[in-house]
Amino acid sequence: MKPDCLHARRIPRLLNLHVPVAQHGDGLRDVDLRGSIPVMPSSKQCLFAALSVLLLAIGGCSGEPAHKPNPAIAESTLAIIPAPVLLQRHEGAFVVDADTPVIAEGAAGTVADRFIAQLAQTGRFSLRRAATARTAITFVLESTADESSEGYVLDVSPNGIRVAARSEQGLYRGAMTLWQLLVDGGDGPIRVAALHIEDAPRFAWRGLMIDSARHFLPVEDIKRVLDAMAQHKFNRFHWHLTDDQGWRVEIKRHPELATTGGCRIPLGDAGIDPRTGAAHAYCAYYTQEQIRDIVRYAAERYITVMPEFDVPGHAQAAVAAYPELGVLDQKPGVSSEWGINTYLFNVEESTFVFLDNVFSELMDLFPGAYIHVGGDEAVKQQWKNSARVQQRMRELGAKDEEAMQALLIERIGRHLATRGRILVGWDEILEGGAPRDAVIMSWRGIQGGIEAARHGNDVIMSPSDRLYLDYLQTDSPNEVPGRPTYIPLKMVYDYEPIPAELTADEARHILGAQANVWSEHLRTPERVERAIFPRAAALAEVLWTPVAQRDWNGFLARLPTQFARYERLGVAWSTTAFEARIAVDADPARGTAIASLSNSLDFGEIRYTLDGSEPNANSTRYAQPLSITLPAELRATAFLGAQPMAPSTRRVIDMRSLRERSNHELASCTQGLPLRLEDDGPFDGPRAIYTADIFNPCWLYRAADLDGIQRIAVRAGRMPYNFQLAGDEAHRKWRPARSAHGEFDVRAGCDGELLASRELPAQPGADGHIDLELEMPARSGKQDLCLYFTGDTRPTYWVVDTVRLLPRAQ
Ligand code: ACM
Repeated sequence: MKPDCLHARRIPRLLNLHVPVAQHGDGLRDVDLRGSIPVMPSSKQCLFAALSVLLLAIGGCSGEPAHKPNPAIAESTLAIIPAPVLLQRHEGAFVVDADTPVIAEGAAGTVADRFIAQLAQTGRFSLRRAATARTAITFVLESTADESSEGYVLDVSPNGIRVAARSEQGLYRGAMTLWQLLVDGGDGPIRVAALHIEDAPRFAWRGLMIDSARHFLPVEDIKRVLDAMAQHKFNRFHWHLTDDQGWRVEIKRHPELATTGGCRIPLGDAGIDPRTGAAHAYCAYYTQEQIRDIVRYAAERYITVMPEFDVPGHAQAAVAAYPELGVLDQKPGVSSEWGINTYLFNVEESTFVFLDNVFSELMDLFPGAYIHVGGDEAVKQQWKNSARVQQRMRELGAKDEEAMQALLIERIGRHLATRGRILVGWDEILEGGAPRDAVIMSWRGIQGGIEAARHGNDVIMSPSDRLYLDYLQTDSPNEVPGRPTYIPLKMVYDYEPIPAELTADEARHILGAQANVWSEHLRTPERVERAIFPRAAALAEVLWTPVAQRDWNGFLARLPTQFARYERLGVAWSTTAFEARIAVDADPARGTAIASLSNSLDFGEIRYTLDGSEPNANSTRYAQPLSITLPAELRATAFLGAQPMAPSTRRVIDMRSLRERSNHELASCTQGLPLRLEDDGPFDGPRAIYTADIFNPCWLYRAADLDGIQRIAVRAGRMPYNFQLAGDEAHRKWRPARSAHGEFDVRAGCDGELLASRELPAQPGADGHIDLELEMPARSGKQDLCLYFTGDTRPTYWVVDTVRLLPRAQ
């Protein structure tokens, strides 16, 4: 098996070099200090040295340093994300060290203590509370009258730091800004420039959804994401806890939901224990105690947790646990297939009571105002085909299946309202008429949100083409698995939650927005984090910062500092957008190539080597396409100053590599439903990641140079076809097999001449792969080669791992 080339979880500490420096009087001036800060990987001493250089640089650039640089004191970069509403710089600074006392005025003790704890947890000072002090960090809760306000004021002066707010949550948001100001540098003192910040959010709903149903995220990992969310000033955690592939919350009245509904047997090698040959189930759920712990942990960060129990669709795991809840007279297994499953809850009164009971327990567990009832992707075939459901619909006065869903949702809404809760549903709940006070989560684009706002419903925007973070950021081979519809960082940053079509009155219904991270393809917590960060930082700024202050270049310049904070928090983040990309245009006949380097954000400086060594800040800076003599080994990295922004990219350019394409270098012949998928084995250890169009797995080797080519070698893996496609099943295509186990075919173009073909074995080898070599007819010039495997793609299908053109022996 090919390792999945996961990038190192952490990259060296990174510092923002775009530093606001003092002007006389108020106001900001930005000075770009790129290129001057040497910071070495995870060495506190080196970090100190680097920060002191930064300090000197600031002094040098401002012309009139407000203080004498002291190399033992780090300097806060002021790179705040999300950017505050107002930040004014003043003369002077305040140095915070381990002896700086913390004072809490009014009822500010709770927030002051949390601030102290979080600062210490992230490897900074262990500060102590004091009753009085000459200079201190002071938290002031001015009044508790305005509970809803999240605004705060933060002042730094040579006499100390003061964070003031009218509510605990506002004070906490201010504490998070202060945390950002204090965590730059090592664990020694830090100088914060004198400043005045006035800040408050643009939107009340600043959310992130995590899907624990498809892949379970352990409690500690959820907490780590909550820490990072708090630090970004998010305030809603939407927890997707139930789906076809798993029920993940303990329900005391109906324990089988979690114990049976929480277990699935993955298809393929992942579901077989190689030691025993027995089925290996993927089982997990959160106990009620764990749920309470997470709700408490989130509340301490002023984040409300909204659970989602998805009805009437995405119900297969629940029906697997209690078949009497289903429409069919059969007990399904918990689904091991992604996509759209057809299992619905039935509409018996006993099922309504069951659902009420489950929602009651959820309301006991989740004290927040909002409860999400799903409502998405409930294909109605089972209801349509069931005489009993049709009879019940008549009894209940539902004219069609949409009206039936609306009746069910309305009933649940009434149940939630008895305890003062507000129903939230995906935009499909508009179809049969949504309850007047329901909140609509617009995911199929923004149209549902527009319609709902016009109708007077509150709306949370979460359009899949902008804010689904399981969509990939770039086409890098180092992306985590996911959906290769690209949502790059800038697309998130440019997102505007208020649709232009709405009047000011209608726009008041847009509560905010949230990013959703579906986890079908995100098997590990680290991948979930890399999908979230740093795109969540971009969304945080969209949701907090006024439009007028949004500044993409400023955000990019602050981002490296944010990466250092992720490192402190222990969360992984994606560096793919910063990776150096190497494009090669080779002339094999002359033994030369032109290599062009870039990165997707066009950020920083790309440096490269041609001697096999790792690029560093002194390596040659890329300025124009490189003329290369083969063979060569090119390594490149984007740097900001001395900081590598991502692990280096390595490309060997020789005759062999020019004739070889790995899966990620091949195009798809069709544009059906491409997915970046993880192999099903080995059981333990890293698994290969392949891109395949699951509607028609077929790969294109563009412009293959066939001069002198005699054979073609292919390495292929095999995966279980683990998708339910509901109405899209008709799009699933394959070419018929001509022999018992099908063939591997090579065509000249997708429908061109069959150039080579080879029968496939019944099974892959022990390592899960096959290696084939095929004779190629003599051809000259360049030709698109179409590569595919014949035969039904269910229950398993082959995928091209690598393909290589083999020349005639010289
Ligand atoms: C969804 O993505 N099905 C809400």
